[in-house]
Amino acid sequence: MGAIGQKGILLQSKLPNIGTTIFTVMSKMAQDYKAINLSQGFPDFDCPDRLKELVTKHLNDGKNQYPPMAGIPALRQQIAEKVKAYYHYDADPETEVTVTSGATEALFDAIQAVVSRDDEVIVFDPAYDSYEPAIQLAGGRTIHIPLSLPDYSIDWDRVKQSITARTRLIIINTPHNPCGSILTKADLDNLAAVIRDQDILVLSDEVYEHMVYDGLKHESVLAHEELKTKSFAVFSFGKTYHATGWKLAYCVANKELSTEFKKIHQFVTFTTSSFVQYAIADFMAECPQHSLELPAFYQQKRDTFCRLIADSRFRFSPSKGTYFQLVDYSEISQQSDVDFANYLTREKGVAAIPLTPFYQQAPATNILRFCFCKDDSTLERAAEILCKL
Ligand SMILES: Cc1ncc(COP(=O)(O)O)c(C=O)c1O
Repeated sequence: MGAIGQKGILLQSKLPNIGTTIFTVMSKMAQDYKAINLSQGFPDFDCPDRLKELVTKHLNDGKNQYPPMAGIPALRQQIAEKVKAYYHYDADPETEVTVTSGATEALFDAIQAVVSRDDEVIVFDPAYDSYEPAIQLAGGRTIHIPLSLPDYSIDWDRVKQSITARTRLIIINTPHNPCGSILTKADLDNLAAVIRDQDILVLSDEVYEHMVYDGLKHESVLAHEELKTKSFAVFSFGKTYHATGWKLAYCVANKELSTEFKKIHQFVTFTTSSFVQYAIADFMAECPQHSLELPAFYQQKRDTFCRLIADSRFRFSPSKGTYFQLVDYSEISQQSDVDFANYLTREKGVAAIPLTPFYQQAPATNILRFCFCKDDSTLERAAEILCKL
């Protein structure tokens, strides 16, 4: 295939089947139609005042030149202390921690670091939409395994059967966007068993690590005896500190994996915004309670949203993690999820995310994703509309 660019130049797209991400499409539609935006995952409340003060301080203090490639030492030290406290993982901040421009960059770097031409990478559908293009750019092949309904769990027998001599990487995401499900210790044990004695690595997308509810626990690969030496674990400050626009994240992996990871990172972005790194390092030291309070903070939002739509015709089970709630709208409409999301945004004034764009082969379901990391007043306004459908 090919397209003719300006002046008759043959433009060969490297991602011919990729359009604009559904998050951008739905947020733009929400803006165009002045709809309440429960689509893209970002809070409509601000990050902590103290964090903004620290950003301003470091900006004014002149922390405005290139920081070290892997991130400033103070931030890497805080990250090492955090993964020790939460996951009992002893990270060497010098060799095992890399600060990146968002988790999106970390995911991309990890994939480029270890996936070569014709390597196979297993992802679970519905899969976050940045994985496959990165695999494609690395020359790899994406092997899609659907999560099993109704609880979006992983069928480990199917995973085992999908392993070939070319399997190089398995990408997991817990807590899971868009499903709001979480992996258990038994899941990680199954994963470890599947890749035991094989040259297969794990990329674990854990950006919603602090958003786990009802007393459940986030199971990080870093806390798993076997997986911790075979995995890249990716986390996002954007999610944790209500500052998605700052695009600050990090990857923790053993020295060997981090060395390869940094070779990519240094030529993708080299480093990331200096004064924000200083501010987050200070904030982590000053306010460790912020992360500890997040599960209760978001559980209250989940419960508020679920209570507000309890009498609607949407059917749902409360999310176990993330700040997303899936709902089944089959009592309201039999339209496709894309059509129903468009209708809801344009005609009713509430934007949501359809699930089918995250599948290679979507099942015949009527499911939408709503984002509840919003002020209670936003959730109330949206729910009033949703309850009338
Ligand atoms: C599962 C998942 N991974 C990665 C990202 C990207 O995070 P960041 O904004 O830090 O790039 C997101 C953002 O929504 C996400 O939901």
